[in-house]
Amino acid sequence: MAGKIAPSIMCADFLHLGQTLEALDRAQVDYLHIDIMDGAFVPNFTLGPDFVRAVRQATRTPLDLHLMVEHPERHLGLFALREGDIVSVHQEATPHLQRTLQEIKAAGAKASVALNPSTPILSLEDVLDDLDMVLIMTVNPGFAGQKLVPATLAKITRLRSWLAERGYDRVEIEVDGNVSFENAGAMRRAGADIFVAGTSSIFGPGRDLYGLTQQLREVIA
Ligand code: DX5
Ligand code: ZN
Repeated sequence: MAGKIAPSIMCADFLHLGQTLEALDRAQVDYLHIDIMDGAFVPNFTLGPDFVRAVRQATRTPLDLHLMVEHPERHLGLFALREGDIVSVHQEATPHLQRTLQEIKAAGAKASVALNPSTPILSLEDVLDDLDMVLIMTVNPGFAGQKLVPATLAKITRLRSWLAERGYDRVEIEVDGNVSFENAGAMRRAGADIFVAGTSSIFGPGRDLYGLTQQLREVIA
């Protein structure tokens, strides 16, 4: 199956968001990646429930919500989760990971665990049955425009074989952070399925969003 594209909307030009969403619809991207940050789990603030509600009214593209927040289980209800959504919560952000994943699935969404670069794959051992996807942070979360943490490439490879050894090939791998055209090729070869496209690839002043999205699609085919 071809790789999937999830543009990182925090990187979009907010003054022309409608046009951006239309261009992404034309480019037939697979998801819209929406980074939610609380200033506590990560040292930044970005987008919130009202923004998510507005995006849902503007497009039919499924949402890929990345909750970089402490205790995500306390906030799921704010996002009107629905079938087709992916919701990633950080392994490092809750002592109640299994229950949180269950609550995401009960809302009809796909459940995903995000791992910071230093968080071991083995921390997923006891929630494999609850997982639809793993989000591998290839940068330390919080800001766009950062450089890849080199060790995360091998981590993708290890995760893909670790899942296969346990019979969990169905679990998808998403990568998030410095997904440049060059890095995306290496990430795809390492076993990634879904690619968060930000300022390293498609977003930036004067860039051809539609054309660059098509270019990225060829790299991850
Ligand atoms: C990082 C964000 C990502 C991404 C942005 O916390 O979750 O959306 O880094 O894309 P780049 O890294 O290409 O600017
Ligand atoms: Zn993200």
